[in-house]
Amino acid sequence: MCGIVGYTGPRDAGPILLEGLRHLEYRGYDSAGIALVADDGELFVEKRAGKLANLRSALNGRTPHAGIGLAHTRWATHGRPDDRNAHPHVDCSGAITVVHNGIIENFRELRDGLVARGHVLVSETDTEALAHLVEEAYAGDLAAAVRSALGAAHGAYAIAVMHRAEPDRLVGSRMNVPLVVGIGEGETFLASDVAAILEHTNRVIFLEEGDLADLRPWGVTVTGPDGGPRERPVSRIDWTPEAAEKGGYAHFMLKEIHEQPQALRQCISGRVRRDGRIRVEELGPVAPRLAALSRVELVACGTAYHASLVGAAALQAWTGLPARATVGSEFRYSPPPLDPTTLVIAVSQSGETADTIAPTRYAREQGCPIVAVTNTVGSAITREAEAVLFLQAGPEIAVAASKTFTTQVATLVMLAAAIARERGSLGVEEETALGRSLLALPAAAQRALDLSVGVAGMAGRYAGSRGFMFVGRGTTFPTALEGALKLKEISYVHAEGYPAGELKHGPISLLDADCPLVAVATRSTVYDKLISNVMEGRARDARVIAVASEGDEQIGRFADDVVLVPDTHEILGAVLAIVPLQLFAYGVALARGTDVDQPRNLAKSVTVE
Ligand code: F6R
Repeated sequence: MCGIVGYTGPRDAGPILLEGLRHLEYRGYDSAGIALVADDGELFVEKRAGKLANLRSALNGRTPHAGIGLAHTRWATHGRPDDRNAHPHVDCSGAITVVHNGIIENFRELRDGLVARGHVLVSETDTEALAHLVEEAYAGDLAAAVRSALGAAHGAYAIAVMHRAEPDRLVGSRMNVPLVVGIGEGETFLASDVAAILEHTNRVIFLEEGDLADLRPWGVTVTGPDGGPRERPVSRIDWTPEAAEKGGYAHFMLKEIHEQPQALRQCISGRVRRDGRIRVEELGPVAPRLAALSRVELVACGTAYHASLVGAAALQAWTGLPARATVGSEFRYSPPPLDPTTLVIAVSQSGETADTIAPTRYAREQGCPIVAVTNTVGSAITREAEAVLFLQAGPEIAVAASKTFTTQVATLVMLAAAIARERGSLGVEEETALGRSLLALPAAAQRALDLSVGVAGMAGRYAGSRGFMFVGRGTTFPTALEGALKLKEISYVHAEGYPAGELKHGPISLLDADCPLVAVATRSTVYDKLISNVMEGRARDARVIAVASEGDEQIGRFADDVVLVPDTHEILGAVLAIVPLQLFAYGVALARGTDVDQPRNLAKSVTVE
């Protein structure tokens, strides 16, 4: 998704902004640009389609010296990803510059009005209209003009604006798209993401919906849409910029796959006691409403949806309540009947996914108790929920999720156990058995990594396949979906995730020597049934790759390649079984030479519908 970075202060803004953009590259983008008000008062703008390197070479290593500027990475929503549509955008007078993340829904109407009033708009973007609206409203006070312009705009936005006539002032505002203010020593920053400014300051203000931030080098004032002051706390972020770097790994994704033991440790610590008792204190605000629940709805997208399938199974098994997971974009327009006895659990690593936030907000309006599960402090989803559980997985930079999947599964399982215990439907013995498996999970994940050392190499042998069929049954089915998604995302090879029993109802016709079957065959109550389905595929010449539990002595008879993972509590199986499949996807991507960390057409955080 788009990225914003802005600076006002005594240092040279150009290099700070370009470095900020580099830290935002992971978000996925198709063009980049920078605007500076140079020390001589001239506005300097450069923007280029493609990667940041294109912008850098257009700049030829030089930007005019300036104490203020804005920069942007764009992920196209309106208009092609070309130089003209890249941000920043400028008004007719060449004085006002705007960068924007999100979508202005009524931009056609706004553009038509502006053109009718004599403005010349040169791009196809919704953002450019904002620059001209600010121009119309400007009467010497940039903050007042931005507030007035935003009054006419509907949609989702995080914007940053500067005016050549006020060369130490940046104005930012947000609605349904994240924007943070960084407070330095005699300098301030605006950013879509703390990663962009973390090397300069770890003191940030997470702006809230409708906030307008007026930044000067010496400080920031936050006001609401009515112009009234808003008190916003300054948070200290303990992620170092180094934590967001690749370490010794070739790709962020590989680093993050290997960080899973540590991420799981952080995720579980404080929630499972040494004796195996599970305590999820964050559940406190909804605890009084748990006894009256009639069912549970989980809402999420992509990888978070796959983790939610595990969460729904755990909840249903332990509470006896109907529980199901639904993809956010489906839930949004065909919502199930919701009432105050329906618990809604919204799962989103970024906490900013529009397709997850909208149904969550709708459920809140229906009076449902809401629990959010996210990795991102200060994210939009946290404001929709009464209770929030953070994954504590640390920053995930690669577009394809890895450690946030495994920590989502662990968090949802702990949440399910805590809810069932509160309702009196989970016995102490069951709880502590689960708790002990959770405590053992970080070491088990490390063992899964150790057992998977050969997987990337093995993947190379399969990389030329036409497609892949991933199958699982019961608790292993979500892992099949997630394994297929990982492969599709980063290697661009077609892969399907299917419940193994469904193979014979259609997809078995795809299987042949060029379409391997990947079976998630870890220990489960339906292991034997799954093996029968695998045999059906094998009979069609499909090569079989199996992920199985250590100690499974017969799996070698049914598979061409076997990767073992440690045994664990059945409901936690996905946490370990996905590890070799993440590495398999990585290996196929490497062999095919794709962009592992920033796969084409994808963005890390999808803040548009
Ligand atoms: C998969 C992936 C996406 C996200 C989905 C939801 O690797 O990254 O499928 O899982 O876009 O994102 P969040 O969890 O941020 O809501």
